[in-house]
Amino acid sequence: MTTATAALQVGIARDAGDGLRPEYDPARPELRRDPYPHYRVLRDLAPVHWAPRTRGWCVARNEDVLFVLKNPEIFSSRAMFTFLMNQGHPGRPPLSWKMLRFVARFAWSTRLNPFEFATARNLIAEDGERHAAMRRIVNRAFTPQRIGAWEDRVRELVAASIAKLRTEGSFDVVADLAIPVPVGIISEMLGVEPSRRADFKRWSDTIIESTSGAGRDDPFNPRMVDTIIELITYLRQVSEERKRKPADDMVSLIVAEQQGDMALSIREVIQFVMLLLVAGNETTTNLIGNAVSALLDHPDQLERVAAEPALVPRLVEETLRWDAPVQVLFRTTTREVELAGTTIPAGAYVVPLLGSANRDERAYADPDRFDVTRAPQPHLAFGFGEHFCLGAALARLEARAALEALVPELPGLVRRGPTELVDSFLVRGPKRLELGRRVA
Ligand code: HEM
Repeated sequence: MTTATAALQVGIARDAGDGLRPEYDPARPELRRDPYPHYRVLRDLAPVHWAPRTRGWCVARNEDVLFVLKNPEIFSSRAMFTFLMNQGHPGRPPLSWKMLRFVARFAWSTRLNPFEFATARNLIAEDGERHAAMRRIVNRAFTPQRIGAWEDRVRELVAASIAKLRTEGSFDVVADLAIPVPVGIISEMLGVEPSRRADFKRWSDTIIESTSGAGRDDPFNPRMVDTIIELITYLRQVSEERKRKPADDMVSLIVAEQQGDMALSIREVIQFVMLLLVAGNETTTNLIGNAVSALLDHPDQLERVAAEPALVPRLVEETLRWDAPVQVLFRTTTREVELAGTTIPAGAYVVPLLGSANRDERAYADPDRFDVTRAPQPHLAFGFGEHFCLGAALARLEARAALEALVPELPGLVRRGPTELVDSFLVRGPKRLELGRRVA
């Protein structure tokens, strides 16, 4: 059976009279539970596919995603801000009282101009030399040596989390392990009060919800607005404290650049810290959750890795490839460009599908098979090129430590109830993953 016939049969493509149209669009939540069959159809039938709701060109094949990420002068990262913030876009909400109230509250509470804040420089959305200069500011906190120094602390947090499983018997992998470890470490690296860790997670969940979840359709929802204002107010206060009294933490490194070559404004300082906060926890939480979920669904693989703990680093890499925690990226074309036979106009949104690139049969043998013994092969879960994930070594360390401790326990545990996914087109992972003791 051809991909086209199969796609028609399972309803993931339709015949529009002039040919087959895949149904995939990242903005369709109902396709998120299992996007992988859709990705396959795209790779085979429409490797560069216009998604009308997203208003972007989805790029599905490994080779083409790499081309996009390797050519930042054609594919600018600006969309990582404008697309996610719904700016300068036909889908942008019209001026309303709700919006005006937000603008007034924002300005009054944070003492920042909301329009200037929304257009401030942001590491992940900058290109070229400005991007490189911003990255240098925090690079030194992420060298292998500096990350290695966090290993004992990571293992302490993991041990404290696993203790709950031993004493209480029931366990939510997400709430009890996959959240506290990365949130604990990133808040210590940034230098924020341990007592605010729960707020950190709540704040970053709201950012995911408002940029890539249901909140995107209701951007001035009072609960989300209050949460974001609370976060920015807090970060402004911490930044001002560190300016007065620097400490050995990342907020101090960033704040020092207000006087440095980059002359970061307070708005840019806050954007920077917010990025690290979200990038530093949501993604790693999802990696740990996805690994456990995959092992529970593949008992033979769990048996392999439980019998041979040295396979845990491969388990981490295979999870990153097989079920990428960041599924999509965004870029803006700086000029007209042809990709896989399709002409993309200048100024268009391009959506490299990392989750699809990692399952491309042109790049990996038997790509849909989850195999913890697979010899490590490059994957695109951390991106590629200039914007390659700054925190990759930290994420790998945290996931390794968490899984080394949890895998020996897993054969005696079973999933309790269905696994609900995080509501987001950007990140992928379980929202809750409850386990209980297996009864003999
Ligand atoms: C499994 C966990 C993680 C995944 C899958 C992941 C994925 C990614 C990806 C795909 C990018 C590229 C974005 C682009 O090209 O536009 C990226 C960038 C970034 N990541 Fe991660 N990330 C993870 C963990 C972390 C952690 C733990 C941190 C920090 C503590 C972090 C900080 C960053 C930052 C700052 C960038 C922007 C780099 C730049 O623009 O130069 N990430 N990440």
